[in-house]
Amino acid sequence: MIRTVPTRPFEGQKPGTSGLRKKVRVFQTPGYVENFIQSIFDCQAGLDGSTLIIGGDGRYLNREVIQIALKMAAANGVSRVRVGKGGLLSTPAVSHLIRTSGAIGGLVLSASHNPGGPEEDFGVKFNIANGGPAPERETDAIFARTQTIERYLVLDADDISLDQMGEHRLGSLVVEVIDPVADYAALMETLFDFDAIRSLIRGGFTLTFDAMHAVTGPYAHEILERRLGAAVGSVINGTPLPDFGGGHPDPNLVHAHELYETMMGPTAPDFGAASDGDGDRNLVIGRGRFVSPSDSLAILTANAQLTPAYADGLVGVARSMPTSAAVDRVAEALGIAHYETPTGWKFFGNLLDADRVTLCGEESAGAGSSHVREKDGLWAVLLWLNILAVRRQSVATIVDEHWARYGRNYYARHDYEALDAGDADALMKAVRDQMPGLPDRSFGPLTVVSADDFAYTDVTDGSITDHQGIRVLFEGGSRVVFRLSGTGTSGATLRVYLERYEPATGNLHRDPSEVLASCVAAAEAIAAIHERTGRLAPDVVT
Ligand code: G1P
Ligand code: ZN
Repeated sequence: MIRTVPTRPFEGQKPGTSGLRKKVRVFQTPGYVENFIQSIFDCQAGLDGSTLIIGGDGRYLNREVIQIALKMAAANGVSRVRVGKGGLLSTPAVSHLIRTSGAIGGLVLSASHNPGGPEEDFGVKFNIANGGPAPERETDAIFARTQTIERYLVLDADDISLDQMGEHRLGSLVVEVIDPVADYAALMETLFDFDAIRSLIRGGFTLTFDAMHAVTGPYAHEILERRLGAAVGSVINGTPLPDFGGGHPDPNLVHAHELYETMMGPTAPDFGAASDGDGDRNLVIGRGRFVSPSDSLAILTANAQLTPAYADGLVGVARSMPTSAAVDRVAEALGIAHYETPTGWKFFGNLLDADRVTLCGEESAGAGSSHVREKDGLWAVLLWLNILAVRRQSVATIVDEHWARYGRNYYARHDYEALDAGDADALMKAVRDQMPGLPDRSFGPLTVVSADDFAYTDVTDGSITDHQGIRVLFEGGSRVVFRLSGTGTSGATLRVYLERYEPATGNLHRDPSEVLASCVAAAEAIAAIHERTGRLAPDVVT
């Protein structure tokens, strides 16, 4: 029986760049999940008879929310849901399945790289028929709906078994429990030269992949160990856990510290990598050499043509504004277009749909391509492995040769977390107010060329997205960017992005923190972070 349950709006159900993200206990408020999902459904035309993809990263509440979503899909006229076994699907796998199943969209249950567990974070993201995150106009419509909603629809039924593959019925809805890995692994085999990677590994090349107890565990075991022949045990922390083993499933030098230590130590394998909660981010570390995500994007762009998927070349590349300009230099050398977009994958989606770009990426360890409409952690790892299999050089050598040709964009991001939201807004306003007076001013060795609040005009639909972060550009290609996070769940997070360009003729092997000291000093002089936030140092440096 389908029930119509009266409900009332909840405050603050505004989805950000990556869906609705809140503490688990907020999601546990009776009716909270139902309101948001019903609001998503109410904004869809043609839900009747449609197909949906549902899956999550395995975090605390994943299974419960999936059961609710299934019963609500049944009550709202959806005719088929494909859900990953155990409730698991990585974000890129959802994107791929939406595209190959003719689905109207998909629900991804994840808070990405944020920690999981009863006291931690949960999230719901809606992806549309192209496989990418819902665009701004749609998330705005969903939010507006959450503020007027009066009822939700749910089927009265028992839970289905998410662990039993095959078809189950919920009223007129068919729920198909599928292998979360199979379709994705098959897609990867079409993109990359698995034989070449297998032969590299057979020749003694060693690797370690840290799945951080999150969703990529099953994918990495299947693809890296079973299909590519990496030694059993190459994948570590490969079992998804509701609390990710107590860690942050965030593949950076802070949270993937163990991997970093291994890769810098005497027993390091040739290649190390990690992915995040929902499998869309990647971290790449060669033996003795960390590759910054901005450099990784540039190097992948410069070498993509060595792999089957990109053998015909790239039509263009895109990076988020805070990502370093390293990839721009490669695009210029290749004679292809390059775009600078606001943070968040949906801007890349439009460029990919319009065939303007083939590769795209962000400083926050995300890279992807036209194969799906999300960033893709394991895809980036496989692209690296394919390039290594062709070039037969170490990661460090490939990076060195890259810098020797294009120069090096020294880069760091400083995060100040859980700030008082009022303090953070006041700081941004103060920086914004100073913008007109910054050009020509000098801060130590750095002279300001321009300062602006980044606004982006979508090349495909002309829509404008503004207030995306304040860029202060210095002579010689150096830069400081101030931006507030759109994904934090407590207070405000200030991100300060620091970049100094060193031409190929300069010193390419200095300590980044030393090189960036002048940018840090300029950022402090402009924003008075200490004084305005009471913080003496950033919480996280990546
Ligand atoms: C962060 C990253 C951004 C990424 C987003 C979703 O957003 O900085 O690059 O697209 O997570 O994974 P932020 O918290 O900075 O708004
Ligand atoms: Zn993620």
